[in-house]
Amino acid sequence: MTSETSGGLSEVEIEAELNGVTVRRRVKARQHLADFLREEMNVTSTHLGCEHGVCGACTVLMDGVAVRGCLTLAAQADGCRIETVEGLNDRPEFAALQDAFIERNAAQCSFCTSGMLLTAYELVRSEHIPSREEIRDHISGNMCRCTGYQAIVEAISTCIEKRSGT
Ligand code: FES
Ligand code: FES
Repeated sequence: MTSETSGGLSEVEIEAELNGVTVRRRVKARQHLADFLREEMNVTSTHLGCEHGVCGACTVLMDGVAVRGCLTLAAQADGCRIETVEGLNDRPEFAALQDAFIERNAAQCSFCTSGMLLTAYELVRSEHIPSREEIRDHISGNMCRCTGYQAIVEAISTCIEKRSGT
């Protein structure tokens, strides 16, 4: 990562893997990752709600870990693998999670859904079979105004049960 000042604003050059594609860009040092993804990379599944780390709508995966795009700087993505819904659609276990959300009516207005799916995907990929309580705890940082959460917990649980054959 290289940095320089342009017009009084510090900029940095980053190189990251975004949904399987290497991208190199010069970004403002203070630009958030969610803004970078939406405005410069046209990754519009990354939503912005509260913009201060509370709602989880901006969740993306950074090196496989769910992070808040509104609290992460684009500069921090340098050297990292960033994944969003756009890049995961063809992964069988992610498609199964999406199918479970549809079957259980766990997406209504869908504003929260991409963040919720990415947060849940951490659980789906893990070997551990979580209890309903552990699922609730895991998604507790992602807000949903529509579903009351029960359908989401059921969808995640169903997907994991199918994967594990239980
Ligand atoms: Fe990032 Fe709400 S927009 S947590
Ligand atoms: Fe509307 Fe979650 S489905 S906010």
